[in-house]
Amino acid sequence: MNAGMITTAYIIASVLFILSLGGLSHQEKARRGNVYGMAGMAIAILATLAAAGVTNYVTIIAAMVVGGGIGAVLAKRVQMTQMPELVAMLHSFVGMAAVLVGYANYLDPTHTYDSHAAKVIHLVEIYLGVLIGAVTFTGSVVAFGKLRGIIMSKPLTLPGRHLFNLGLGVASIVLGYYFVGAADIASGWAPLAIMTVIAFIFGVHMVMAIGGADMPVVVSMLNSYSGWAAAATGFMLGNDLLIVTGALVGSSGAILSYIMCRAMNRKFLAVIAGGFGGGGGKGGAAAVGEQGEVVATNADETAELLRDAKEVVIVPGYGMAVAQAQYPINEMTQKLRAAGVRVRFAIHPVAGRMPGHMNVLLAEAKVPYDIVMEMDEINEDFPHTDAVLVIGANDIVNPDAMENPDSPIAGMPVLEVWKARTVIVMKRSMATGYAGVENPLFFKENTRMLFGDAKASVEAILAGV
Ligand code: TAP
Repeated sequence: MNAGMITTAYIIASVLFILSLGGLSHQEKARRGNVYGMAGMAIAILATLAAAGVTNYVTIIAAMVVGGGIGAVLAKRVQMTQMPELVAMLHSFVGMAAVLVGYANYLDPTHTYDSHAAKVIHLVEIYLGVLIGAVTFTGSVVAFGKLRGIIMSKPLTLPGRHLFNLGLGVASIVLGYYFVGAADIASGWAPLAIMTVIAFIFGVHMVMAIGGADMPVVVSMLNSYSGWAAAATGFMLGNDLLIVTGALVGSSGAILSYIMCRAMNRKFLAVIAGGFGGGGGKGGAAAVGEQGEVVATNADETAELLRDAKEVVIVPGYGMAVAQAQYPINEMTQKLRAAGVRVRFAIHPVAGRMPGHMNVLLAEAKVPYDIVMEMDEINEDFPHTDAVLVIGANDIVNPDAMENPDSPIAGMPVLEVWKARTVIVMKRSMATGYAGVENPLFFKENTRMLFGDAKASVEAILAGV
């Protein structure tokens, strides 16, 4: 393929990626958006393979078969609840790829420069690419650990941590100066290697310092970083498509981080500086005495309540994903609607463990889109709602966020379900949610706890409805 054809293929792929992002902005168009993305990626890979200078097809195809094989097996096996961890892990691969490409580029003995300026620009590209890649790599690995629950979600607040971060930042700039000014590879690799270690440490420290409740911002922020790492790799390799694609991912991740911050009423810089979203929750039963009594209910009573209601709102959370309760919920919704009950779903922007988590599950179960409402669209309607079913949600319906300024989630907008006439909370125990904070909703007078696995509970209610 000549250069003109490759450029044309790259432009087509870029347009398909933009259409893909556009499609993903709405549930009805999301499937089509994915098809655009896959077509764009296929064109991008084929055009790159056909470019002049690409000769080692055996190694490339072997790597694609191994990588693609592992990806296909993982994608087939992964549970919906493990998706955020998988995404965090994939971000870490992008980060590591940027680091490795940076080193390979720097150590390439055949690389020649037209001018001193071109050399400086290339070295800056390498330095920034390795820096962003290394932060993305370790940050994503820690995020993976936190999402999987193998690393504590409580923020690590080292004394003097801001000074520590500042020190790392200043050291990186000084090392960058020595790296770019180095006469040859022999004197330049040491500043690059030391900076890489610093960036690895910074990535770990940055995500360790962020508390459980602020993890949504971290996930979208690392998404953005992985995009910038890919764009930096594009600069290093002189590949325009990688620059465009990386910039698209980087900027859409940044926009998503902004949306997440707004949804949680947090300032982006405050989240990054860390220490928020801690949570001193000790877990359920211990708090019973402190907060009052909980009133338990059963499936029959709940079914009766729903049959008699005119307005019902269902609030799904992470527990619905764990229990895979979306299918019986859809069935129950259909039955209630057929009986003349108005049923709607209320989706909190950070419900579950990844952006759009609940929307994907409900769409999978074929819940009609027009009864799935965003938090802002439905929050004012709770006072006129007869019954709210909270299915496996906890932090996103915690009144403490609004009523207790000392709460680790203070200020985060929540679904104000307690304003409804009756609230049924379905969960297995009195345990806390992801942020690790107690939830006074469970002790309110109009709350009834329906203990048990969400799927089993919904199926039992369904039988009664
Ligand atoms: P959580 O606050 O994590 O609460 C989920 C609840 O589901 C738990 O209290 C758990 O209680 C219950 N549960 C688990 N398995 C269940 C099952 N099989 N049947 C019934 N209940 C079950 O979830 P949420 O309300 O959706 O809030 C999301 C939280 O995750 C927020 O703190 C958010 O900041 C954080 N987060 C979100 C994201 C994104 S982007 N959405 C990313 C990372 C973190 P039991 O154990 O008692 O059953």
